[in-house]
Amino acid sequence: MKIMSVVGARPQFVKLAPIAHAIIAAGHEHVIVHTGQHYDPMLSDVFFRDLGIPEPDAHLGVGSGSHGVQTGAMLAQMDEVLERFQPDCVLVYGDTNSTLAAAVSAVKLHFPVAHLEAGLRSFNRAMPEEHNRVLTDHAADLCLAPTEVAMQHLATEGLAERSVLVGDVMTDVLFQVRDRVLAGDAPNPLADLDAPDGYYVATIHRAENTNDPERLAEVVASLSAADRPVVLLAHPRVRAKAEEHGIALDSGNLVTRDPLAYPELIAAVLGSAGVVTDSGGLQKEAFLLRVPCTTVRHETEWVETVGLGWNVLANTPDEITAALTRPAPADTDAAPYGDGHAAEAAVATIVERIG
Ligand code: UD1
Repeated sequence: MKIMSVVGARPQFVKLAPIAHAIIAAGHEHVIVHTGQHYDPMLSDVFFRDLGIPEPDAHLGVGSGSHGVQTGAMLAQMDEVLERFQPDCVLVYGDTNSTLAAAVSAVKLHFPVAHLEAGLRSFNRAMPEEHNRVLTDHAADLCLAPTEVAMQHLATEGLAERSVLVGDVMTDVLFQVRDRVLAGDAPNPLADLDAPDGYYVATIHRAENTNDPERLAEVVASLSAADRPVVLLAHPRVRAKAEEHGIALDSGNLVTRDPLAYPELIAAVLGSAGVVTDSGGLQKEAFLLRVPCTTVRHETEWVETVGLGWNVLANTPDEITAALTRPAPADTDAAPYGDGHAAEAAVATIVERIG
């Protein structure tokens, strides 16, 4: 069977890694298309290198732009790519503009579509990712869900028959990389910090926290007043928005560094006192590493992390301070994100349902 993966943004490269290995291990053909949504080497190339992902077979080079311009540039090129490779299935990942563009172009040309990480919902209709998720699930022929909660959302929307619970592929890659880090493969890149009482790892990049100057200023002020150093691994979006709004990111206890490669990120989180983020993936990675997480959002798709006490939603400065300094959560052996073999299950399901 010939499976085409379409990816374009950082979290998708992480999910692609275990899938790429599982497709080859199962003896199938894999075509990788990179839309070029993320093009900075630290957001793209290092993930292919460190996670052993084969070079893309096609690169669309779309780059940045408004949602319509970026999504449209992908759509305009996908027809030719699909016609050229003639895949038996187009696999799309997560919730970015690359996900939606690939799903729409494939269904229109009658190529079967499978959506990995289907069924996640924030129920916040202002989020671009929420539009992408809902539209992609409803376009897809096969919804590969990471959790029971995601399966329930799909059933509520009438998609139960085309949905299968396969587990979370980010767990697969996280466990492998964690073991490499613990074996000494990737030293903690933040070990040089002057932080005798430890540090927090932060990432902030979502539109809802960066587009509005007042909101970004409030988040920056909260982090700069933290009780220990906060290392903001600055996504290009937060740097660009801070400059546009005239906000200094490095202030008080807040220090910026460039984004990290995946093994170094895991080493940094493992060595930290906590994580502060608006990323989806990092909330879950913190939980899987049993590092307390504070999520600077009003809702989360990964509700299990909150229910188990390892993640707290915090928005105002007072809420963020209280969440950062809260007592350590009770330990748990709950495994809502699977056992690290989701990629094999996803590939087997694609072959069974579509192959
Ligand atoms: C995208 C996804 C988001 C995901 C995130 C992970 C959408 C709508 N959003 O957000 O779901 O969590 O990726 O990082 O698809 N930029 C660069 N270099 C790059 C990429 C982006 O400088 O390599 C800058 C550009 O100024 C661009 C901005 O970042 O305008 C935003 O990039 P974009 O692709 O629109 O979305 P992200 O914010 O990265």
